Amino acid sequence: MIKPFLSILAACALLSPLGAAAQGKPVIKVETQGVQLVMKVGDNGRLYHSYLGPRLTHEGDLQHLPQGIEAYLTHGMEDYFEPALHVEHSDHNNTCELKYVSHDVTQLPDGATLTTINLADEVYPTRVKLLFTAYAQHDIIIESTEITNGEKQPVVLHKFASSLLNLDRSRYFLTEYSGDWASEVAMSETELNFGKKVLDTKLGSRHSMFLPSFFQLSLDALSTETQGEVLVGTLAWTGNFRFTFEVDQNGALRVLSGINPYFSQYTLKAGETFKTPDFIFTLSDSGRGKAARNFHSWARNYRLKDGNATRMTLLNNWEATYFDFNEERLVGLMDDAVKLGVDMFLLDDGWFGNKYPRSSDHQGLGDWQETASKLPHKLGYLCQKAREKGIKFGVWIEPEMVNPKSVLYETHPDWVIHLPNRKEYYFRNQLVLDLSNPKVQDHVFGVVDRLLTHYPEIAFFKWDCNSPVTNIWSEHLKEQPTHLYVDYVRGLYNVLERVKAKYPHVPMMLCSGGGGRIDYEALRYFTEFWPSDNTDPVERLYIQWGFSSVYPVKAQCAHVTTWNRTADIKFRVDVASMGKLGFDIKCADLKPDEEAFCRSAVENYNRMKPVILDGDQYRLVSPYDGRHASTMFVAPDKQRAVVFVFDVNPRYHEHLLPVKLQGLDPDRQYRVKETNVRGDRYAFDGRTYSGQYLMMVGLPLFSTRRGLTSHVIELEKLS
Ligand code: DGJ
Repeated sequence: MIKPFLSILAACALLSPLGAAAQGKPVIKVETQGVQLVMKVGDNGRLYHSYLGPRLTHEGDLQHLPQGIEAYLTHGMEDYFEPALHVEHSDHNNTCELKYVSHDVTQLPDGATLTTINLADEVYPTRVKLLFTAYAQHDIIIESTEITNGEKQPVVLHKFASSLLNLDRSRYFLTEYSGDWASEVAMSETELNFGKKVLDTKLGSRHSMFLPSFFQLSLDALSTETQGEVLVGTLAWTGNFRFTFEVDQNGALRVLSGINPYFSQYTLKAGETFKTPDFIFTLSDSGRGKAARNFHSWARNYRLKDGNATRMTLLNNWEATYFDFNEERLVGLMDDAVKLGVDMFLLDDGWFGNKYPRSSDHQGLGDWQETASKLPHKLGYLCQKAREKGIKFGVWIEPEMVNPKSVLYETHPDWVIHLPNRKEYYFRNQLVLDLSNPKVQDHVFGVVDRLLTHYPEIAFFKWDCNSPVTNIWSEHLKEQPTHLYVDYVRGLYNVLERVKAKYPHVPMMLCSGGGGRIDYEALRYFTEFWPSDNTDPVERLYIQWGFSSVYPVKAQCAHVTTWNRTADIKFRVDVASMGKLGFDIKCADLKPDEEAFCRSAVENYNRMKPVILDGDQYRLVSPYDGRHASTMFVAPDKQRAVVFVFDVNPRYHEHLLPVKLQGLDPDRQYRVKETNVRGDRYAFDGRTYSGQYLMMVGLPLFSTRRGLTSHVIELEKLS
């Protein structure tokens, strides 16, 4: 039954009378130093996006802006385009029309500005809040939505986007980063024409295995690192996501971002509110590099766990031993960690399980007790050994998962996402635990809590996640099976919140068989992530480049391994030094001179680390350009900079131009000094140049002599 409008008003005492504010026709601005989103209320009381672009600085001009396109399109009215919201009311009427009610602007404690716009339906008591948080200095805007069921009966949400952005430009070029295990974030670009392009995922726990949850959208023309207008967006949600890009008959583009509604119809009880995840975006009018830096500096300051703290270098045993180790081998690897001069030893998969020892990935997952035959003195002994050697100790866990061959599975089959009446389908011989169930949340929290209670010296966790959600069925949610994808993620956040509350500063690496699960909501709880199991340095040039489109290198773990032995140790170390440096190798794999090189490179890295991890990243030459690549980092005060240079696959007699540096102080002198030297030095090593020369003329960084060669140079400003 359709309820009379006045009874809704009574139910919505917090809202100002509908239509009243619309009479004043407010103009709502969400703005940063460089970006502006302007919304207007139409004569019909509905909310429209009038402008999204570089900030307009003459206030009076805003009145001239056209009304634009509806800000948060609903299903059931003019159904011409993909809606942001689809509500099925308790009487099964599926329509909704949102009108502006009020808005307010508040300052958040972290300095950001929050604009809340209240919208409501005049016929049903459905209320929607559009929330925009603007980080002025970083040109970052976060949009999310809250949908409240004001009815006395449940309603069903079929679609519930976080954000709808409207753009009216001459052309649109979408850059996506699809891939797979060990070939993550492969960049490709398409022009958008009439119709829809959807980027989505239905993988659940390992949501970004085929596609990370970010995109770049060049407006009007193709953008480069330094030129063109580009909108970069990402969804902060550790589960299924969907971006829909829809170009209409007039050439306008709607960008819808949010949880993928696939098999996720969500029932809201009376009075309940559904909060969508954050859609985070920036707009750069000077290319992709600036957009990336906006994300990096915002993330370090506001989102990444301990974003302003330093990061530890480490030695991981995974590729050195796989599952085949004992105490002696591990202690030997700790000695390698000491030889290399890293801060920590990280024990990977294979240390647990007794009834079903984790001797391969076929069994043991879920049983988090040390395997007596491998570790008779348990983790405490390894903590002690690490302490004696003056390094930290970290440990791998995969607490959301279970092998069917485990005591956990035998004891609690109802805790597993699987179909009781069908043959189970396994991804890496394992299944996902049902985190929608609070008992399972307690279990997963307990894995971490017990380890840290027993072994408070554990200084780091690598939290892995090797399976997407398959066999989609939850015993716990059997009355509401379509809630599982969403409630799984919410359950995960409950666990991570508890871990962070009790152990606020334990560093944790987010891993998912490589880069299968990375997003800015998870990174509230993780200090870093593992971009890929592929550590071939050539491949890593591409993968680290791709992820740096939105994630700072401080969060990107980069390890030196034996992948691609045709690349010299210097090339491998130099690539890994462009991120959070680690090793996944044993010293026995290195010749004495290689080991000595690694040790000195770790010392150099420790000196350069503040510039690399906390500086501004300038991506000078893309590996996608073909034969060479270069990236530089500049300290915020421009006193120091580090430039990485890679000749990947040069050609004989190639015409090479000097590479122009960026981000320096043009009026100061910089001394250029090569570091990580192994073999030839640059002829210009030790010279002094002005910042202007370095940026306008550049340096002859590339060479055509040999492939797979690299250089690292440090720049220091002379006072
Ligand atoms: C997948 C990860 O990406 C690897 O680094 C390693 O931790 C294995 N899992 C262990 O099973």
